[in-house]
Amino acid sequence: MPARQFFVGGNWKMNGDKKSLGDLITTLNTAALNDQTEVVCGAPTIYLDFARSNLDARIGVAAQNCYKVAKGAFTGEISPAMMKDCGIDWVILGHSERRHVFGESDELIGQKVAHALENDLGVIACIGEKLEEREAGTTEKVVFEQTQVIADNVKDWSKVVLAYEPVWAIGTGVTASPQQAQEVHEKLRQWMRENVSESVADSVRILYGGSVTGGNCKELASQPDVDGFLVGGASLKPEFVDIINARG
Ligand code: PGA
Repeated sequence: MPARQFFVGGNWKMNGDKKSLGDLITTLNTAALNDQTEVVCGAPTIYLDFARSNLDARIGVAAQNCYKVAKGAFTGEISPAMMKDCGIDWVILGHSERRHVFGESDELIGQKVAHALENDLGVIACIGEKLEEREAGTTEKVVFEQTQVIADNVKDWSKVVLAYEPVWAIGTGVTASPQQAQEVHEKLRQWMRENVSESVADSVRILYGGSVTGGNCKELASQPDVDGFLVGGASLKPEFVDIINARG
């Protein structure tokens, strides 16, 4: 089985300014980061160029969203072609805030995934159940359905990482326990085995996201099917370095 490189994404969401993000970038550029870990920072659209210009080349930059076509009359949107033009190599798609605050459908997310991949972007594709869905025992159903739509739009899985982010854990301070995370990750990998392929199931990175901190990252990172993190709040703080280095 090929080793899966540990992957840590920061999702800055709609936070920061040139001063605070500049300070964070200096911290990251000068920190001792585990060189076995792939690191990508998700910047607000207006700071993508700033982040790319200032972050060390060993750290990738991701957009937090994109549209499904290259250009045209789509006020307020940006395209993968524009990102590539600015040196941006990744995009986060299907984040729960895009799904549940902005009403993005599975179908639209799938179309965005396909278009981003056609333009050679790496995609961090997010999935996850709401609290009421977990309580109703439908976690697997929800997560598998969301993953199916993503899978329907992926030809080359080498450019995709999946991020399992239970909605109830995002920004709440309530982290999934290492056992809860492992359980869903393992089932997701099994689903990939049955519905995509053996080799993709073995090689695809499955990140956990939802209130990951410097304090809880090590135990989560020790789970066999947790291949990294997507980090919101803590990615804006110096402890992001500890999360990057969670697998020592
Ligand atoms: P959080 O956000 O770490 O602040 O919970 C995670 C995310 O939304 O990706």
